Amino acid sequence: MKAIEIRNKYLNFFKTKGHEIIPSAPLIPENDPSVLFTTAGMQPLVPYLLGEKHPEGRRLTDYQKCVRTNDIDEVGDNRHLTYFEMLGNWSLGDYFKEESIAMSFEFLTKELGIPVEKLSVTCFAGDADCPKDTIAAESWKKVGIPEDHIYYYGKDDNWWIAGEEGPCGPDTEMFYDTGKPACGPDCQPSCDCGKYVEIWNNVFMEYFKDKNGYTKLKQKNVDTGLGLERMTMLLQGKETPFDTELFSPIMDKLKELQQEDNIESRRIVAEHLRSSMMIIADGGRPSNLDRGYVLRRLIRRMIRHINKLQIDLKELETLININIENLKEMYPELEKNKKTIKSVILEEKDKFVKTLANGVKEFQKAIRKLEDTKIIPGEIVFRLYDTYGFPPEVTKELAQENGYEIDQKAFEELFKKHQEKSRAGSEQKFKGGLAEQTEETICYHTATHLLNAALKQVIGKDAHQRGSNITVDRMRFDFNCDHKLTPEEKQQVEELVNQWIQAGLPVTKEEMKKEEAIQSGAECMFIEKYPDIVTVYSIGEVSKELCGGPHVNNTKELGRFKIKKEESSSSGVRRIKAVLIKEDDFGDGGKNHLKG
Ligand code: ALA
Repeated sequence: MKAIEIRNKYLNFFKTKGHEIIPSAPLIPENDPSVLFTTAGMQPLVPYLLGEKHPEGRRLTDYQKCVRTNDIDEVGDNRHLTYFEMLGNWSLGDYFKEESIAMSFEFLTKELGIPVEKLSVTCFAGDADCPKDTIAAESWKKVGIPEDHIYYYGKDDNWWIAGEEGPCGPDTEMFYDTGKPACGPDCQPSCDCGKYVEIWNNVFMEYFKDKNGYTKLKQKNVDTGLGLERMTMLLQGKETPFDTELFSPIMDKLKELQQEDNIESRRIVAEHLRSSMMIIADGGRPSNLDRGYVLRRLIRRMIRHINKLQIDLKELETLININIENLKEMYPELEKNKKTIKSVILEEKDKFVKTLANGVKEFQKAIRKLEDTKIIPGEIVFRLYDTYGFPPEVTKELAQENGYEIDQKAFEELFKKHQEKSRAGSEQKFKGGLAEQTEETICYHTATHLLNAALKQVIGKDAHQRGSNITVDRMRFDFNCDHKLTPEEKQQVEELVNQWIQAGLPVTKEEMKKEEAIQSGAECMFIEKYPDIVTVYSIGEVSKELCGGPHVNNTKELGRFKIKKEESSSSGVRRIKAVLIKEDDFGDGGKNHLKG
C-alpha cells in the first residue's frame, strides 16, 4: 500500500466513525513562539483540548505535517526523519479509552490487514500522579489482544506531553513485530533492537501540567498520532522509509548521479531536501535565528553531502523537480510554491558555496595547530559557524572524517550567548504555555490585523503577512515587501492604524464557509490550514481576516500604536516591531484622554 493510500484510508475510516476531516496546519505555527515548528497533530488543537469549542465538532481527524529537529545529526541512519507526516484522530471531550482502542484495533487489523499476532501494546503502569491504566489494558483484551502482548511501563514510556507544560496524560502505544529474532529473553516493545516498531500512540489527555504539578482538564480528550512514513515502510516490508515510494525516485537519481558511493549521504540529501522544501512551502526562509536557522542547517548539510557524493551542485534543480513531481499529489503546496522553493534553496546554496571552500581550508589549518588533542575546541567550531556559516553538524562531520570530535557543549554555550545578543534583548518568548492569552496579547492580536490592513493600503495589496509573533509587551509582524520602508511609509502606516483605533471600530466575528470567506475578500495567510467552516473577524470596514481570535471588541481598547523598528527579516520579507502605548503610559497623567 502506498503512503497516500494509507493516508486516505485513515481519514475515510475515521470519517465513517463520525470524525470531521480537518486540514493540516502549516509547519510554522502562527502566533505561537513557544515552538519552532509544528511537531505533532495535537499542537494546533491545544485551545480545543483545553475546552474551547471547535467549529467542526468534537471528533476530528487529519494528517499533520511535522518537523522535529532535535536529532538532526542522526538523519542518515535508517529511521530518523526531520520531516514526517502524522495521521491523527481526536476526541475533544467525546469518546474515551475503550472506543478509541476499539477504533485503532479495527483500523490496524481490518483496514490495513495487520495480523493480530503482529501487534503488541503498552499501557501506563501507574504512579503517584495517575493510577495504572487497567481500563486501556482491558479494552485491548476485549478486542482480542492476548494478555502476553500487553505491557505496562512508567512515565518514561507511557506518558505523553508536548514539552514541559500543557495538556497531557497516560498513553497506550501500539507496536508492530517485524519478525526479526528477539535480541534476548528480555526483548520487549520498549527495547530498541528493532524487533518491535512503535506504530501508533493514543494519548488519553485528561491532565494539565504546569510548574505546580498536575490538574484535571475540563474534559477528557483522546489525541492520537500514527507516523505515516514508518507505517508505509512496515506495510511494504521495507527496511527503511528511504526504500518506499516517498523517497525512491530521489534516491535512485542520487545513485545515478553520484561519483562516490555513500548511502548515508544519499539519505541525508533526500531527507533534508524534502524537509527544506516543505518548510519553504509553508513560508520558512533561511536565517541565523530560530526557525530560519534550522532551515539553513538542513540546506547546508544537504549541500555538503551532495559534494560528498561528488554530484555537481548544478543538479540541485533536477533534484528539486524530482521531489515536486513525486510528492505533489500528497502536497500540492510544493507545486504551487515551486518557484519560491527553487529560488530559496539555490540562493542559499550560492551563499554557502562562497564560504565553503575557505571554511574547509580554515578547518584544516585549525586542526594542524591542535597538537595533542583530538577534540576541536568550541571557539573554532563557533568561528567556522560565525565566519563561514558552517552549521555545527557540518563541522562535526568534517571532524569525524579526519579523526576528530568537536567540543559540542562549548560551542553551544558560545552559540547561545551569540543568539541572545542577536535578539537584542527586545524579544521575549511567551512566558506561559501554548495557549496563554492575556489582555495585552489580545490587544496586540487585533493590532496585528490593523497593521496588516494598513500595509496593504500603503505598500500595496501584495504586502501579505508572512509571520507574526506576539508577547505581552510587543508585536512583531513579517510581510512581503521588496524594499526598506521609507520614513514616510512608516509614518503613513502608523497614522492609519492610529486613525482606525481612534475611530472606535467594532470588531465582529462570523462563521462562514471557507469559499465564501475567500470570495468576500477575507485575508488569510495559509488557506490550506483552515477547515471548511471558518471564523472571520472584521474590524469596521477596514479589515477582514480568517482567524481563530480572540480579539478585543472595539479598537478603542488598543491605545496608541507605535512602530519601534523596521528591518529585513529574510530576502523579500520585512519585519516590523511595534508596541501599543496605553493611556496611562502617555506620560501626562492621563489628563488628555477620553474616558471609558
Ligand atoms: N501527540 C502524540 C504523539 O505525538 C499522539 O505521539
